[in-house]
Amino acid sequence: MSFRAHILGAAAGGGLPQWNCGCRNCTLARAGDIPSQTQSSLAVSADGQTWAILNASPDIRHQLSCTPALFPTGLRDCPLRAVLVTNGDIDHVAGLLTLREMQEFTLFATAGIHDVLAQNPVFDALNANVVTRSAIDLDRPFELLPGLTATLFPVPGKVPLYMEGETVETDVIGDQTVGVELVTDDTRTLYIPGCAMLNDGLRTRLRGADLLFFDGTLWRDDEMITEGLGQKTGQRMGHMSMSGPEGSLAAFDGLGITRKIYVHMNNTNPVLRPDSDERARAVAAGWTIGQDGMEITP
Ligand code: MLT
Ligand code: MN
Ligand code: ZN
Repeated sequence: MSFRAHILGAAAGGGLPQWNCGCRNCTLARAGDIPSQTQSSLAVSADGQTWAILNASPDIRHQLSCTPALFPTGLRDCPLRAVLVTNGDIDHVAGLLTLREMQEFTLFATAGIHDVLAQNPVFDALNANVVTRSAIDLDRPFELLPGLTATLFPVPGKVPLYMEGETVETDVIGDQTVGVELVTDDTRTLYIPGCAMLNDGLRTRLRGADLLFFDGTLWRDDEMITEGLGQKTGQRMGHMSMSGPEGSLAAFDGLGITRKIYVHMNNTNPVLRPDSDERARAVAAGWTIGQDGMEITP
C-alpha cells in the first residue's frame, strides 16, 4: 500500500485556455506556448487498484481518457470506486453528469453539499440504484477506499457562485466548503482547492503534513481587476492569493509540510507561465506548481 495522487486538472473554473478569454495566458496556451490545464480535480489511491476522484470537473471525460490508472479493466469494470466533492461549485460538480453511465460508485460530500445537489434535479441523472450518496459529518474519519481514511474539515469559504444572494459572506466556516485529510499507514495528505484564509484550526491541522494540495487561484488579490477581466478580488471569490503578507506563500512558511503543490489555478495566474518571475518565487518558497497529468507519491 502506498499513497499516490494524479492531478487530473490543475486549473480553476474556466480552465486554461478559457473559451471566451483573450488574456495573456489563455492566448499563450491556445498557441501551444505554455501548457494548457483542465479544471480542478485530483485522483487518489492507496492500493493502486481502487481510485477516488476528488471533485468532478466539467473536463472529467477528457481527464479520464488521459489517465491509464483509471481505464476500464473489463467490459464494465472500472477502478473508480468513489467521488468526493469539496463544494458545490460548477467546476467541482458538473463532471458528475458525465459519470451517469450506470457505473457503481459512492458519492461522498457533506450534508450541505448533498442538499445543493439534491436541489438540482439534473443530478438525478446519477441513478440511485448504482450511485450511493453518502453524507459525511465534518471531522469524522471514514473509509474512502481500502487503506485510505478521509476526514472532511471546514475551510473558510462561501456558497457556490450560482447560489449567491444579495450579500455574500466569503469566509463562512461550515459544511459548504471543505478540505480533505487523507491518511494511509504512513502518509498524511491534505487537499484544499478553495480557501479564503488560513485560521488557527487549519494551521494546526496542516502542520507536519507529508503532502499538501492547496488553492492556487490567484497570484494577487486584484489580478482579475488589473487584467481588465472583471471586478472581483480573490477575497470576494473566497480564495486567498499566493503573494502578499496574507498570501499562501507566507502563510505556509514554517508549517513543516514536506511537499506543497498548488492546484485550482485561475488562467490569469502568472505562475502558469513556466518562465515567469512569479513562478520562480513560488518554487523558491518550496512550492510545486501543479499541472495536468502530474503523478505524486510522497
Ligand atoms: C471558484 O472557485 O471561485 C468557483 O469555481 C467559481 C465558479 O464557479 O466559476
Ligand atoms: Mn473553483
Ligand atoms: Zn484567460
